[in-house]
Amino acid sequence: MKKPLRVLALVDEDLVPPDDTEGIDTVNAPWKTEFDVIETLREEGHEVRALGIGAELAPIRRAIDEFKPRIAFNLMEVFDNVASFDHNVVAYLELLRLPYTGCNSRGLVLARDKSISKKILHYHRIGVAAFEVFPRGRRVRRPRRLRFPLIVKSLTLDASLGISQASVVEDEDRLIERVRFVHESLQTDALVEEYIEGRELYVGLLGNRRLQVLPVWELDFSGMPGESHKIATERLKWSLSYQKRHRIMTGAAKDLPDDVRKHIVSVCKRVYRHLALSGYARIDLRLREDGRVFVMEANPNPQLAYGEDFAESAEKAGLDYGPLLDRIMALGLRWETRRLG
Ligand SMILES: Nc1ncnc2c1ncn2[C@@H]1O[C@H](COP(=O)(O)OP(=O)(O)O)[C@@H](O)[C@H]1O
Ligand SMILES: [Mg+2]
Repeated sequence: MKKPLRVLALVDEDLVPPDDTEGIDTVNAPWKTEFDVIETLREEGHEVRALGIGAELAPIRRAIDEFKPRIAFNLMEVFDNVASFDHNVVAYLELLRLPYTGCNSRGLVLARDKSISKKILHYHRIGVAAFEVFPRGRRVRRPRRLRFPLIVKSLTLDASLGISQASVVEDEDRLIERVRFVHESLQTDALVEEYIEGRELYVGLLGNRRLQVLPVWELDFSGMPGESHKIATERLKWSLSYQKRHRIMTGAAKDLPDDVRKHIVSVCKRVYRHLALSGYARIDLRLREDGRVFVMEANPNPQLAYGEDFAESAEKAGLDYGPLLDRIMALGLRWETRRLG
């Protein structure tokens, strides 16, 4: 049995699981992830206090003084409703010298901006789709260097927000329309990339310096109607009924040639290091038919609910949910000593 720790779980203020869950459907609750993590840590013997965070940092400071946690378990998705403020909160924990789980503030900044991260990866000769950024408030012009079909996404939002079949465009008119949609409806700059046709792979990693790569996971599109683009749209990602209807499933990638698998593992480790990630992360990739691998994005602090891709692939590697959370905390504790040393 590991040493029990005092753990401060940082969660969004709307996602604090209730103390008493009797009679509540915890599997479909919006706070399922938070509940899974907190309950499991308690089962592992840790003393956990959940702290809901809105737009104030002072409660963190107070909880540290009163509760004296050994580590913060970072489950925050937003601060003051802004997802890209995540690194500021982690930077605050760094200033307070409180160890935390997951990614450090620098890695969060680098991975959040898909343009910055792809520039870094390209410099290191890692395959990424050719792209251009279309900032808000500027005229939308035809991208000269890019070849259709293109995919239009938000530069900074994640979780497939704003991604639909209409995100893939074949001509200039549709491109301009979709860039405007990103600017106006999502209120962010737009990222336009060459569309990569291929298998969609997700790879989980754990570690700070030495990295453990979890089994390659695949989103299987084969049940989707033939004419639609095989992409992880917002609907596909979040609608259970849509997933059921089209038999969309994720699981260990089958029939990957050994050399391709090895190449993917090596690419993912390099991405993790070049983007200064720590703790745990998931890299999203596309594997083209000719065997070329393209990195779509790196996701620090990926979704950690029980039964979701990251935990499933860890389990496949022999790391059950409780030990997985313990490992993530051990990595958080170790990162602190190295950083302050
Ligand atoms: N260049 C691309 N070529 C083909 N499909 C893409 C490309 N970029 C994104 N996609 C599709 O859109 C989905 C979401 O894109 P991603 O960059 O991972 O954004 P998010 O942060 O929302 O997950 C991907 O999972 C993939 O299916
Ligand atoms: Mg993604």
